Amino acid sequence: MQLGFSVDEVLSTTRSVRKRLDISKPVPRAVIEECLALAVQAPNGGNRNSWRWIIVDDPEKIALIGAQYKAVFASGESRAHQPIPASVQRTDRVMESVQALIDKIERMPALLIPLMPGRAEGKSAMEQAVMWGSIVPAVWSFFLALRARGLGSAWTTVSLAREREIAEILDIPFEQYTQAGLFPIAYTIGTDFKPGWRAPLAEVLSYNGFAGK
Ligand SMILES: Cc1cc2nc3c(=O)[nH]c(=O)nc-3n(C[C@H](O)[C@H](O)[C@H](O)COP(=O)(O)O)c2cc1C
Repeated sequence: MQLGFSVDEVLSTTRSVRKRLDISKPVPRAVIEECLALAVQAPNGGNRNSWRWIIVDDPEKIALIGAQYKAVFASGESRAHQPIPASVQRTDRVMESVQALIDKIERMPALLIPLMPGRAEGKSAMEQAVMWGSIVPAVWSFFLALRARGLGSAWTTVSLAREREIAEILDIPFEQYTQAGLFPIAYTIGTDFKPGWRAPLAEVLSYNGFAGK
């Protein structure tokens, strides 16, 4: 069921939901499939449709994958991520929210793991752009479709530090497919999300060149 948001409302209020993911409410496969059917309308290189979409709703597998996600943080590997500049606002709240997902990821109703064909290692920038550009628009459309229906997710990438282990849990042929991330799926606790903080356009936009006004 859709909540009746306008397109602009959905675009401006689809947050990375972590604290407010409701792990007590099951998510029917039909709802996930409805969102995925919309998601795959996103563009993909050559319209090859060579993506694969894995939904994990077996609680045992979710627990195993969630444990891998947790382990990346416990080992400190997640700190290899780029440092956050001091100008970014509310980083303490982001960290609290990141922790909330770590705490409950093993008990999510479902997870999405999208697969891109091939391996990104050693590819040129152009080849990598085709790989990522053929999956990211669809995953974001999935987020928007979830939001329109009162569900949410959070974009996560740290699971790729355990990509091989997760591939084993799900029988993914590692040499043939690259995981694009790990996306929890749950109903949200309340639906009153607000636009997030972003660097003002004036700081990041230029015209007709890198420094143009
Ligand atoms: C490429 C990318 C990687 C991210 N990786 C993680 C992650 O591994 N774990 C996590 O909890 N959040 C992750 N996030 C979520 C961001 O922290 C979040 O989008 C940001 O704090 C802004 O929040 P908002 O989108 O709700 O405004 C990631 C987001 C993106 C786009």
